[in-house]
Amino acid sequence: MSSGKFLETLAGTRFATPPIWLMRQAGRYLPEYRAIRATTKSFLEFCYTPDKAVEVTLQPIRRYGFDAAIIFSDILVVPDALGQKVWFEEGEGPKLEPLKDPAEFGRLSRARLPERLAPVYDALRLARAALPRQTALLGFAGAPFTLACYMIEGSSSRDFAKVKSWAYSHPDSFGLLIDLLVDAVVDHLAGQIDAGADAVQLFDSWAGVLPEEQLFGWSLEPMVRIAHAVRSRHPKIPIIAFPRAVGPAALMYRRPDAFAALSLDTGIGAHWAARELQPHICVQGNLDPMMLVAGGAALEREATRILDKLGRGAFIFNLGHGVVPQTPPDNVTQLVDIVRNWKPSVS
Ligand code: CP3
Repeated sequence: MSSGKFLETLAGTRFATPPIWLMRQAGRYLPEYRAIRATTKSFLEFCYTPDKAVEVTLQPIRRYGFDAAIIFSDILVVPDALGQKVWFEEGEGPKLEPLKDPAEFGRLSRARLPERLAPVYDALRLARAALPRQTALLGFAGAPFTLACYMIEGSSSRDFAKVKSWAYSHPDSFGLLIDLLVDAVVDHLAGQIDAGADAVQLFDSWAGVLPEEQLFGWSLEPMVRIAHAVRSRHPKIPIIAFPRAVGPAALMYRRPDAFAALSLDTGIGAHWAARELQPHICVQGNLDPMMLVAGGAALEREATRILDKLGRGAFIFNLGHGVVPQTPPDNVTQLVDIVRNWKPSVS
């Protein structure tokens, strides 16, 4: 168990400056990550090697002293554990042997999930033991819609034609896949919490490709079901929802019964979030990752603008999406200094 600024903020305490961590804070922008990554060819094998996963989880904590560590893993370990073929191609991102029709669901099964994901849970146990008490440890999973996108498209996609035409033309069978993923994600989050995760984040990275009506059924509703199931077993564990690129439909995710915080992408205005979301739920975000590439005066101005709008309320500083590989590591030091030295302007 951990305490500290990140968890206390989620529980309602306000500090002079907000806690900070960054999505993809472990990754290729760090030379020490690239050095360990080079020791394993397959990315999934890397994720399933606990001592390596723990080491890269701790690297950004040592360098920057973030308030939370996120366990090094990937959202695609869930389809892999369900029995779908998943691999990563150098420079191309994830590949999956795509599901072509509902008959293929029969080949997916939750039966071996706990055993196949045991290395992730081992990594969490080791990471929790190695982290300072005040540093929270986050577990995570992909939300069902985003997982279904990869499972049906077979890779990242430009237009999501396959997954959308399946969902729109055959909602019943698409619903069966979503139901299976709800159960699998609940299992995986509970496994991570049992192994020491202090909080968990649900990434719905592709939610924003859906029209609002479908967003409710295929993104929000499954995420709320997951949150309620996890909370019934672990009522004290905060759940952060990240419905990326949903615009003003972010209002639908303002659900304190399910989520302790909402992670905002770059497209959401801090001013709007301060007025519409923050009075009801803690918000996390939402600096443009490219500001972190730019650094200097642009980074200072934009980070301070976000802090001035959101820093006095329930807020966790983060990016609007993950750190990109071309980010200069020193710019992250600059950002942490900006956040930790920020002073609310008198107004
Ligand atoms: O530090 C952290 O944030 C923890 C680790 C983490 C990774 N992936 C490691 C990773 C987390 C939280 C994820 C989540 C994830 N994975 C998401 C949701 C967040 C988002 O970005 O929208 C998604 C959609 C994926 C799927 C995925 N994994 C893609 C599209 C890629 C390729 C993109 C790329 O940067 O290459 C991955 C591979 C991946 N996952 C890498 C890392 C560090 C890079 C691969 C490598 O280092 O060899």
